[in-house]
Amino acid sequence: MSRPLLDGPAPSPLTDRFGRVHTDLRVSLTDRCNLRCTYCMPAEGLDWLPRPELLTDDEVVRLVSVATRRLGITEVRLTGGEPLLRRGLPGLVARLHALPQAPELSLTTNGIGLARSAAALRDAGLSRVNVSLDTLRPERFTAITRRDRLADVLAGLRAARTAGLTPVKVNTVPLRGVNDDEIAELAAFAVEHGYRARFIESMPLDAQGAWDRERMVTAEEILDRLGERFDLVPVGRRDNAPAEEWRIAGTDTVVGVIASVTRPFCGGCDRVRLTADGQLRNCLFATGESDLRALLRDGAEDTEIEAAWRHCIAGKSPGHAIDSPEFRRPERPMSAIGG
Ligand code: 5AD
Ligand code: SF4
Repeated sequence: MSRPLLDGPAPSPLTDRFGRVHTDLRVSLTDRCNLRCTYCMPAEGLDWLPRPELLTDDEVVRLVSVATRRLGITEVRLTGGEPLLRRGLPGLVARLHALPQAPELSLTTNGIGLARSAAALRDAGLSRVNVSLDTLRPERFTAITRRDRLADVLAGLRAARTAGLTPVKVNTVPLRGVNDDEIAELAAFAVEHGYRARFIESMPLDAQGAWDRERMVTAEEILDRLGERFDLVPVGRRDNAPAEEWRIAGTDTVVGVIASVTRPFCGGCDRVRLTADGQLRNCLFATGESDLRALLRDGAEDTEIEAAWRHCIAGKSPGHAIDSPEFRRPERPMSAIGG
């Protein structure tokens, strides 16, 4: 396909030493959150990044533009913390959507505030949302998130569906003795409302360092719980997708299981992550980062940003080895990296 001259050379793929091609960029827009999920952060919250350290909208647009024009990034997921806390989010989405090689845009959110913003986000060019929801029981929701906001999340989910931010995926992290008895109920909820259910093995990425392998519910157990209530028809795994998926027989509902710990999918990983303060990470579990913000603020040309990006990916490890004794936790928690 011929491309307009103004766009520069066609991007050569963002490939690492193991031949993995990176097309999916996750951009954290803030490390703040309006919930305090116990498996993520302490009740008092964290030391949030000072505002001057956050990338501005202009800087986010510039980096995404380099990524799509020069590096072959085709999908951008906006994350947090809680990305809906970023002021003017629909305006930023509209600018990303208007880029010459606009990526497909999706959002991972806790759903609070989505009832208000879903239509504006859709109009701005957002395609899809993933909404985190660990329980359908109000008291339990308050115990897990330390906030009484279940009704807001449910309203956000409905608004997302109405706005056409579909498929709406509901992300659940089951924890033993906390919400593992609700796995089938959450899947039934997805069937009833036309969402997709996704169950995620808990990972050692909480800010407190309290992750306990014994409390993690494994993919195998998740499938057992689902199997007690439903017949599951395998639909296979899409290329490089972390979720293994099944259709609930007799319905159109797809459920996915993300087994980061017990069945790692590092071999097919196509993701690269940008933190809210402009640090590029080649893995959730990377122990190093590349400072793209410093380059931007020093007036770097696109070619320099591209080179730094390729260098970061060239140093990517083959895998995270969570389940091995050599595993080292990254310095930043999940809420500061982006899911
Ligand atoms: N392990 C697994 N998933 C997590 N999430 C947040 N912290 C963890 C963790 N330690 C989930 C959130 C959200 C998504 C971004 O990641 O619940 O759905
Ligand atoms: Fe917020 Fe998500 Fe962490 Fe919960 S898991 S506190 S919603 S960032």
